[in-house]
Amino acid sequence: MTDKSSNQMWGGRFASGPDAIMEAINASIGFDKRMAAQDIAGSRAHAAMLAAQGIISDSDAEAIRKGLLTVLSEIEGGNFEFSTALEDIHMNVEARLKEIIGEPAGRLHTGRSRNDQVATDFRLWVRDQLDAAEAGLLALIRALLAQAEAGADWVMPGFTHLQTAQPVTWGHHMMAYVEMFGRDLSRVRDARDRMNESPLGAAALAGTSFPIDRHMTAAALGFARPCANSLDAVSDRDFALEFLSVASICAMHLSRFAEELVIWSSAQFRFVTLSDRFSTGSSIMPQKKNPDAAELIRAKIGRIFGANTALMMVMKGLPLAYSKDMQEDKEQAFDAADNWMLALAAMEGMVRDMTGNRDALAAAAGAGFSTATDLADWLVRVLGMPFRDAHHVTGALVAQAEAKGCDLPELTLDDMRAVHPDITDAVFDVLGVDNSVNSRTSYGGTAPAQVLVQVLRWKEQIG
Ligand code: ARG
Repeated sequence: MTDKSSNQMWGGRFASGPDAIMEAINASIGFDKRMAAQDIAGSRAHAAMLAAQGIISDSDAEAIRKGLLTVLSEIEGGNFEFSTALEDIHMNVEARLKEIIGEPAGRLHTGRSRNDQVATDFRLWVRDQLDAAEAGLLALIRALLAQAEAGADWVMPGFTHLQTAQPVTWGHHMMAYVEMFGRDLSRVRDARDRMNESPLGAAALAGTSFPIDRHMTAAALGFARPCANSLDAVSDRDFALEFLSVASICAMHLSRFAEELVIWSSAQFRFVTLSDRFSTGSSIMPQKKNPDAAELIRAKIGRIFGANTALMMVMKGLPLAYSKDMQEDKEQAFDAADNWMLALAAMEGMVRDMTGNRDALAAAAGAGFSTATDLADWLVRVLGMPFRDAHHVTGALVAQAEAKGCDLPELTLDDMRAVHPDITDAVFDVLGVDNSVNSRTSYGGTAPAQVLVQVLRWKEQIG
């Protein structure tokens, strides 16, 4: 086949074959061979439908079916010779099918085009990735729930502006990420539902005059229904863009958590110890244990954002229907998907293995006047002060502690009374961090009891 200079699939009107540079810029086989299984699944569904509709004979359909299985096993076994001259996975598979079964192979492309073929293959591939992302997210959420449950009542500092704000619980902090990854999970499921329509049978752009059954091929490939407009079916890449957008938001969450793990595992914080399995050493500094997985998660995220932006740029200027620009959809999505799955798995492993350092967390929780808000609330509740005045009095007490070089609970009652004479020693009850977190029982608050309510809710929700 490749001995002819013009292309065997479309070269009828061509006197010469393509320039080498043309072939290089045109070919997608170098990357779209990744969709071989999806391409063959689509072709099998199409051939079975053509026979059921009487468009090709049953014996041709059977030859095609068997031949495609042979091609698939050759590809999966690494015994397939991909040809750049045959451009892409669609033509590589079909050309090999012809070598194996001869003439019936030429009937496979009846009533379809590479335009609906590639849209179908890519949807199937993206759908598989959404399923993999769902599994990865569920595993990560389970790892977070285990951490949250084990440390529901461990106190740690809660931050705003990365300055100590109020004490929170470890469980509460873990559950914040469960909420974030839980939204990612629902976005993944939502995107899958919306994208699960079959472009197959839209043909080049206008549909076909053959009496095909698009509902049959859609059902065979696990799609909920066929796409309702043939122009849209071949020109739409929203499904890939939604995949990349969902991936981007999730990647942003992964990166924020990775950033926290980098900070938390430092000698200055020591909030967590990452396991040896998810850390690396330094070749020169023997004491080092570096959080490389977290750093790489933080860094890889840029590729996912980049893929999303790149595909937006590819699509934004395209008139209907198919343009070859759209071939640029795949490499970016492949790379983003690989890195997203890897980042999810690495994060799950790190979370599963990490040890929260309860003592260091508790020591940090009490530092930095973290119970100042509790003190102000006490002045309001017990002395009946307006909150603004209580805020002011508390500020004076903080300044006093700062001047003495101690934290709020270490001030004496006399120190306090010098600022406000009505303060009693009952105030010391609210200055402890355990009392502080235990008091925050409002729905969604940091109290251990609230954390456990949310852990239970999530466990029931994800099964
Ligand atoms: N390799 C192409 C792609 O990835 C397949 C579709 C080609 N269609 C065409 N009319 N040239 O988009």
